[in-house]
Amino acid sequence: MSLHNILPTIIADNQLHARWLNTLSLMENTGARKISASEDPTTVTYIILKHAAEEHRHAFYLKKQIEKTGKAFCPTYADEYLVASNYSKYYLNMLDVEVCRYLKTELHLTGKELRFAAYLLVTYAIEVRADELYPIYQDALDNAGSKINVKSIILEEEGHLEEMINQLKTFSPQWQLHADKAVAMETRLFNDWVVALGEEVN
Ligand SMILES: [Fe+2]
Ligand SMILES: [Fe+2]
Repeated sequence: MSLHNILPTIIADNQLHARWLNTLSLMENTGARKISASEDPTTVTYIILKHAAEEHRHAFYLKKQIEKTGKAFCPTYADEYLVASNYSKYYLNMLDVEVCRYLKTELHLTGKELRFAAYLLVTYAIEVRADELYPIYQDALDNAGSKINVKSIILEEEGHLEEMINQLKTFSPQWQLHADKAVAMETRLFNDWVVALGEEVN
């Protein structure tokens, strides 16, 4: 089962669609909180502040889209208001753990340096995913004639990927090698998430 098959089923069911939006909101919020948590209080830059602000906005925007599904579903991020709740909650944390392990063993980073490098690689992998996932979702919304749209998120996510690449280039001349590792870790976790989604939806 791929997202292309799962999304029409989700969109056709208002209650399920509300939970899907809430789940994306949770994941955006987790990402936003991770960026904020990794900020150095002194050396944090314009780009990092912008990025954190936009990820927080995505979490809010997706939560607000739930209204368009018709009812006041999903007041919180409690499990019953999510889809594939375990995988959705642990996806980002697991990616963070795996990337940190890689940075410790391969680059021997610790402390502040480790935190910053993990922010760069985890966020890069997520931005690659976001640039794939949101357009697929938008297509499915268009096909279903839905009132919900995520175009403003797509626009900002494209900017994020570019910003991450710029920051990675300053971080290491071998950035692509490390970034590819992070993407491979993310791909495994994402595929597991999609399998869990497919099982819940059918
Ligand atoms: Fe986002
Ligand atoms: Fe983003």
